[in-house]
Amino acid sequence: MNVVILVSGTGTLLQSIVAAQGESYRVVGTVADKDCPAVERARQAGIPTTVVAFAEQPDRAAWNLELAAAVAGYNPDLVLSAGFMRILGPGFLERFPNKVINTHPALLPSFPGAHAVRDALAYGVKITGSTVHLVDEGVDTGPIIAQAAVDVLPEDSEATLHERIKVAERQLIVDVLRAPGVYGVGGVDKRGA
Ligand code: GRF
Repeated sequence: MNVVILVSGTGTLLQSIVAAQGESYRVVGTVADKDCPAVERARQAGIPTTVVAFAEQPDRAAWNLELAAAVAGYNPDLVLSAGFMRILGPGFLERFPNKVINTHPALLPSFPGAHAVRDALAYGVKITGSTVHLVDEGVDTGPIIAQAAVDVLPEDSEATLHERIKVAERQLIVDVLRAPGVYGVGGVDKRGA
């Protein structure tokens, strides 16, 4: 399975995914919405990289189409948003039906959005975690593929909790990518076979 990873941030998930690639999947490209440490990590790992800068496009619709063209150029079986901080619109999603997944640092449907870890901490939940889900046009609303739970500790700050979530998140996403048929992603669905 050829995987393209969308990034905006530090890219620690990307690095773990690249390190774990093997027979079941290969990371064939990284696409970012801006120059960021994740792009540098990808380059250092020898992964081809494209930046489609949001600021350089006339509007959101044009940016979605440019982003889709950049991703399509890598011919992916699966597109993974891993710390990608922009909402993907119809112009992008229609090009990759059922092929775009996201990893989110909370147990959806609780705490969608950009501040999931902070929101979970502020609410006072005792368990949070990570969710891998299909991307639809909503904000973190697509069908859930896999989840992992993480305890919230009394002394947690947003940073310490997010770091522990990321540890679980890295394992979860690699599990999904190593067994796409089991999870029904990438157009392969062997459930019940
Ligand atoms: C992850 O927790 C992801 O779920 C969230 O941003 C983080 C990405 O971290 N949306 P990194 O850039 O891979 O280090």
